[in-house]
Amino acid sequence: MNVVVTKSYDESCAYVADMICKLVNEKPDCKLGLATGGTPVPMYKKLIEANKAGKVDFSRVRTVNLDEYCGIPATHDQSYRYFMNTNLFDHINIDKANTYVAQGMGDAEANAAALEAKVREGGVADLQLLGIGNNGHIAFNEAADVLHATAHIEKLTESTIQANSRFFEKKEDVPTTAITMGMGDILAAKCVVLIATGLAKTDAIRGLVMDDAITTRNPSTMLKMHENVYVVIDQELADAVGYKG
Ligand code: PGA
Repeated sequence: MNVVVTKSYDESCAYVADMICKLVNEKPDCKLGLATGGTPVPMYKKLIEANKAGKVDFSRVRTVNLDEYCGIPATHDQSYRYFMNTNLFDHINIDKANTYVAQGMGDAEANAAALEAKVREGGVADLQLLGIGNNGHIAFNEAADVLHATAHIEKLTESTIQANSRFFEKKEDVPTTAITMGMGDILAAKCVVLIATGLAKTDAIRGLVMDDAITTRNPSTMLKMHENVYVVIDQELADAVGYKG
């Protein structure tokens, strides 16, 4: 695992944006696995700036997102389709037909099966971007006794609902289930890049970078089995977990 410690969160975002631009420049029709949440937003801003400056061309890039809430339509301002459109896709020269975010409405089992098919369609992701939950979840694979390999419906934990309630008017509005890629889907990507910042992530990142243990109670630890993983954290978080390099 490559642990990259940057001076600041802004530098972490620049590091990851550079990785993505480099990949797209080398392989213009690459497949990107994308993530939502607060963490990647400034990184997406840097991709938009690079695209507007003519430094990267997304016209042939294909994307698949990690997850989507169940029960809210794509037009809802907290849906992950809406998030991706407003934080990235509306501002770059990507063909939206080449972007996929699971359906939140309708038959959830069918929606999970459709996401699973998209994970493999045209080959696996060249790069999978990840955030991490305070409880170590990646995508919506929540800490539990059993994890799932493929795309499935996940019941969100209290900790995740609490963390995500900041985006909704009230906690009761946060959906309680989601469609998510499974652990096998994430580990199938050729390269996995996880960005984390903030002291709320200390325990999760400690479990990921400070020892060799793998546990379903911190799903991110499964990344230790992948050969090409980058964990990008800032100095503040590295200090909090006691990571010295
Ligand atoms: P955050 O979410 O970036 O909003 O902290 C990350 C996650 O839950 O995966």
